[in-house]
Amino acid sequence: MNITVQRFEEIGSTNDEAARQARFGAPEGLCIVARRQTAGRGRHGRTWVSEKDAGLYFSIVLRPRFESRFLSLITLAAGVAVYDTLKELGISPDIKWVNDVLVGDRKISGILAETVETPGGLAVILGIGINLTSKNFPPEVAGTATSIVAELKRNGIATIAVEEVLVKYLGYWYEMLKGESGPAEVIDNWRIRSTYFAGKQVRVTVSDTVIEGETDGLEPNGALRLITSDGSATIVQAGDVQRLRSDE
Ligand code: BTN
Repeated sequence: MNITVQRFEEIGSTNDEAARQARFGAPEGLCIVARRQTAGRGRHGRTWVSEKDAGLYFSIVLRPRFESRFLSLITLAAGVAVYDTLKELGISPDIKWVNDVLVGDRKISGILAETVETPGGLAVILGIGINLTSKNFPPEVAGTATSIVAELKRNGIATIAVEEVLVKYLGYWYEMLKGESGPAEVIDNWRIRSTYFAGKQVRVTVSDTVIEGETDGLEPNGALRLITSDGSATIVQAGDVQRLRSDE
């Protein structure tokens, strides 16, 4: 993949800018990076607080040409890439289905993949936020989030140092996904990095429905298999996962 990076001091959302440029024909590999986002977005319409230089705010344009049933694996491949990035920096993360990268129970990175129709075909805008410092965490996330600087007990880290490692692993795992056995490889590599793959008691919220059960692996398209308390199997295509402690 041919990577080009456009840098912004401040932007609404790097995902929106990447989508805008994709609609104008931007090629696969265009990356948008901003020092600050004024309208950073998370999943389910949540805000992604994006103070200046407190995080890596990164989006890349992808133009996947593989079977559409595997598109959902882009998010899992991105989770693996973020995991490997943090590992290389000296952190031991975990991945919570489908796209939260955690250290212990605290979130350090979030991934937002969005599709956009463009004259050149469907594009996927893969947005990644990685917390660099915990200094300016707003009160609502301070108890549940962490950052690279906090985990490494350092004074600071250069955004570019994180970005370069991330781009390396994103390229690697995206190329892997495109190969013939790519989907199975991505799932297998997600499995060995995530304690959520199997045997974890979780509560999954899907729109207004809440399901509790034990994780039981992933489907070939990355959907989560759950065994509920009556022993029946359920497949969750999308939803929010929360770990259940034994006393809950
Ligand atoms: C989540 O965990 O809810 C996903 C968070 C994704 C945040 C990133 S930051 C860069 C990109 N631009 C956005 O507006 N969102 C993503």
